[in-house]
Amino acid sequence: MSGAKNSALKLMAAALLGQGVFHLDNVPRITDVRTMAEVLQCLGAKVTFQGHQMAIEVSSLQGRTPEQLVKSMRASVQVMGPLLARLGWVEVALPGGCAIGRRPLDIHLSGFQQMGASVVLNGDRLVARAPGGLRGADITLRYPSVGATENIMMAAALARGETVIRNAAREPEIVEVQAFLQAMGARVFGAGTPVITVQGVPELGCTDFSVMPDRIEAGTYLLAFLITGGEGTVCRVRPGHFSSLLSVIQAMGGEVAVEGSKVSVAAPKRLHPFALVTRPYPGFPTDLQPQMVAAATQAHGRSELRETVFDQRFGYVRELRKLGAVVRQTGQTVRVYGPVQLRGAQLEAGDLRAGAALVLAALAAEGRTLISGAQHIDRGYECLEEKLGGLGARITRLATMGG
Ligand code: UD1
Repeated sequence: MSGAKNSALKLMAAALLGQGVFHLDNVPRITDVRTMAEVLQCLGAKVTFQGHQMAIEVSSLQGRTPEQLVKSMRASVQVMGPLLARLGWVEVALPGGCAIGRRPLDIHLSGFQQMGASVVLNGDRLVARAPGGLRGADITLRYPSVGATENIMMAAALARGETVIRNAAREPEIVEVQAFLQAMGARVFGAGTPVITVQGVPELGCTDFSVMPDRIEAGTYLLAFLITGGEGTVCRVRPGHFSSLLSVIQAMGGEVAVEGSKVSVAAPKRLHPFALVTRPYPGFPTDLQPQMVAAATQAHGRSELRETVFDQRFGYVRELRKLGAVVRQTGQTVRVYGPVQLRGAQLEAGDLRAGAALVLAALAAEGRTLISGAQHIDRGYECLEEKLGGLGARITRLATMGG
């Protein structure tokens, strides 16, 4: 499997806290990573990206982030913490990214404010300042936001004194950011638990680091095996990072075998229906919710999925219905009635994981499915068509589809 998008992007942002040349390995070749590389370059870093290796040279930086890039990718907001801590100011356009609901920044900004920063909205640009530097604070997040936890951790690494982040997100990507910061010389502890402590240091160096495997990509391929009634193995993964998915696959009757860094799944003759609720880690990941709904169309009976992390993450259901899926939505819950024989149709991918779900459904559908909006899929999946093609799927990219 490829390196994790949601880890690589944060490590790239964290590099802005240091000095010298960073070497990142196992960096996924996806458009979000290229966008982040452009953001870093606009800020004054030098980035070279060859194969899966990236070098980032950081010396002097400026704090005004490029509007168009930030608008195209929400994760670029992760440069706020590092720049604010390093330069004492940062200016970012309000970010964009996947269209999956309101995605405010209040938790990030409240953290910076508690560390002594002032934050003002100037038109559609956020300006945060801490001319005298940030100071450590005891911060309780109103929700364990992944991005806010990382942003505050990074800012705190160069703040004066100790910062405690309570109700912190516990995703594996946060543990990676901690390991990366520690390798740069930061004093950060507790990632993976709800309380993270950061003792600020005056400056940070650089490091070499290998990006962890992408748990969401791995999960998407395991579900491809399941939805097509097939079997297969994902290699170079950390199975402990997606135990919640493996439990659901087992509940659906799938046979799961874990051997070191390999996970194999074999589909049963009849997929059982299931119920799940998305939650922050270690709960079921929202980033696999659309793919699970696609899988549920092939289960015998009624499956029920409730989304609690984002408030508008069922937009793709309309597209699944075009294939013949029977899905009823009530508020933040969908019920899927299966199995149905899906039939190829023309679909539009509205965001990254929705796009992945449509690809899975198309694999199970009879006939040809045309998915436009492939550029959303390219944001987070490296060589999707080659990887699925290698497993026997017939999948082609049409030049006119963009991306
Ligand atoms: C990250 C992941 C994304 C994943 C999500 C949840 C990256 C680049 N993206 O996104 O793939 O789906 O975690 O696992 O790592 N919220 C607020 N105020 C804030 C921040 C967040 O209300 O200041 C809300 C959001 O609107 C959302 C929920 O908190 O409803 C979760 O967001 P968050 O955990 O911050 O997700 P991201 O870091 O944006």
